[in-house]
Formats: sequence, C-alpha cells, structure tokens
Amino acid sequence: MATDGEEVELTLFEAAGGIVFFEGLVEIFYREVQADPVLVVLYPEADLGPAKHRLATFLAQYWGGPMTYAEERGNPALKMRHFPYAIGPEQRDRWLAAMGIAIDEMDPVPDVRRMLTEYFVMAAEHLRNDQSMRFTGSA
Ligand code: HEM
Repeated sequence: MATDGEEVELTLFEAAGGIVFFEGLVEIFYREVQADPVLVVLYPEADLGPAKHRLATFLAQYWGGPMTYAEERGNPALKMRHFPYAIGPEQRDRWLAAMGIAIDEMDPVPDVRRMLTEYFVMAAEHLRNDQSMRFTGSA
C-alpha cells in the first residue's frame, strides 16, 4: 500500500506500542477477572500468571507481533480451547466488560481502540458455547 514513500503501514501490534501494550492490557484484564466472581470461577488455575502469558502472546501474534504463542502452544484453535468453559451471554458480557476497562486504562489511539473492541466483541460471541449450567450440577 505504501507506494509514495510517505505512508508507512504499521501492524496494530506496532501502532499499539508492542508487547508492552499487550502485557499491560492483559495485566489489567486479569485484575478485573480476579475481582469478578462469575469470571474467576471459570479459570482452572489458581495462579493466573500462565494464563496472562498465553493471552498476551496470543493477542500480540494475532495483531502482527512475534509468533511466540504458536511456538509455545501451536495452533490457537480458540473455539476448541474454550469448550471446557461454560461461556453463556453473561460470561461473554463480563469478559468484554473486563477487557473494556483494560482498554480504557491503556488508552490506545482511536484506531487501535476501535479495531480491538470490534475484534473482542466478535470473538467473544464466537466463543460463546451457551452451556452455562454445565459445571454447576443444578438445573
Ligand atoms: C473475546 C475473545 C477471547 C479471546 C481472544 C480469548 C483468548 C484466549 C486464549 C489465547 C486463551 C489461552 C488458550 C491456550 O493456549 O490454552 C484463553 C483461555 C481461556 N479463556 Fe479465553 N478468550 C476470549 C474470550 C473468552 C471468554 C468470553 C471467556 C469466558 C468468559 C474466556 C475464558 C477463558 C478461560 C477460562 C481460559 C483458560 C485460561 C487459560 O488456561 O489460559 N475467554 N482465552
């Protein structure tokens, strides 16, 4: 696209500020997860450190950064990796609310904010699997 030497195309990863941005985003996101009783019960590990690393490296890779996630985890296959967790509309919306707070606090430039928000709304709905009572044992 950049043909006249004046326009330079950046990946969103670069425009957002690189890995530091995604690590900051995920740090705030998981702070919110930890404070949300509906979300926190979904996370299988008491130590959220490894989950932070997986989400940050995934997002960095998705937006054009290093392929660390693929090297460590292989194909993202996010739909499959979310099957074990009961994600209904409430979980989806709380996840998005937590990420919304993280985006607000990181305060990226408007284009980055818009693209991230559109992506998360789309992806959270895609990952919804609606079986929200699966692990409760109640009807
Ligand atoms: C909106 C887009 C979302 C993205 C991009 C995303 C991304 C990810 C990634 C990359 C992982 C780690 C996968 C792995 O390598 O094992 C993960 C794990 C997980 N996600 Fe999501 N997720 C999204 C939405 C959600 C939603 C809506 C929920 C539930 C409310 C959820 C709950 C979880 C849980 C419980 C884990 C396991 C923690 C872990 O082991 O990393 N995710 N997600």
